[in-house]
Amino acid sequence: EQEKTEYKQRIKQLLKEKNAVLVAHYYTDPEIQALAEETGGCVADSLEMARFGNQHEADTLIVAGVKFMGETAKILTPEKTVLMPTLEATCSLDLGCPAEEFTKFCDQYPDHNVVVYANTSAAVKARADWVVTSSIALEVVEHLEAEGKPIIWGPDRHLGSYIQKQTGVDMILWQGECIVHDEFSAKALKDLKNVYPNAAVLVHPESPASVVELADAVGSTSQLINAANEMENDTFIVATDRGIFYKMQQSNPDKTFIEAPTAGNGATCKSCAHCPWMAMNGLKAIEEALTDATGHEIFVDETLAAEAMKPLTKMLNFAA
Ligand code: 13P
Ligand code: SF4
Repeated sequence: EQEKTEYKQRIKQLLKEKNAVLVAHYYTDPEIQALAEETGGCVADSLEMARFGNQHEADTLIVAGVKFMGETAKILTPEKTVLMPTLEATCSLDLGCPAEEFTKFCDQYPDHNVVVYANTSAAVKARADWVVTSSIALEVVEHLEAEGKPIIWGPDRHLGSYIQKQTGVDMILWQGECIVHDEFSAKALKDLKNVYPNAAVLVHPESPASVVELADAVGSTSQLINAANEMENDTFIVATDRGIFYKMQQSNPDKTFIEAPTAGNGATCKSCAHCPWMAMNGLKAIEEALTDATGHEIFVDETLAAEAMKPLTKMLNFAA
């Protein structure tokens, strides 16, 4: 505890010295989210993180999240220094969608609009017509429906098939998945619903269709937090990373939030409702990044960044 307090003090001082601001995702650990709040930074979903970094006047952004979030920040504001607690924090969706293979895949369908999730590399974004986050994916696909062109969607197959079902749009899906959400189990969730018959079920659409079917509300992290605030149930079963409980509990101290079960039932699951890469964003790593940027700074190839900037700007304008 003493050590943590010291790290926090030092981070606060460094943020001021370097005119830096902490931008954290809802899946980071509670103490990181609290620190972002206390220091005038932001805690947000991936869309809002991009928007906040883009608009803030700080010289340096320290992005507590995963690599694609740091890269997005750098692409949108190349004049800023973008640091991350660790450059090792990746995402299974990004890893499962190598740019070269994705480009070949897209080249087979030249008459399709290419829509990619923000959880991708700069090179994959550079190949896309649109970049979306889960907050606006449905709206963007509905908007594109008017153009009448079919869509290539990548990389999350669960989110893709959810959107396909909702909109009826003709979509070809890249077969990627999030290791955290993919593990939620419909069978175990049904059993848990029997234990808590009055609980509302909140599900992130990166979860399998069988889990989404059991949901009372489906949406991005920010949409699930809104649902927790607005719904009158006193208990919620939540199928997303448990980092989100910090915000849900903060605004709803009298409500109970329960983790949705994974297939391994805690024993064999790989990630057990917490992203291993989000978990790398600790206080020590933040302090290190602010003390010495070496090995913490995000750089994006300029040519790729210029290409990726186009669909990212479209995303921000669409969401505005
Ligand atoms: P959102 O916060 O945009 O819903 O994204 C979820 C996610 O998995 C980010 O890693
Ligand atoms: Fe990627 Fe899933 Fe982790 Fe989000 S929770 S960063 S989608 S692996």
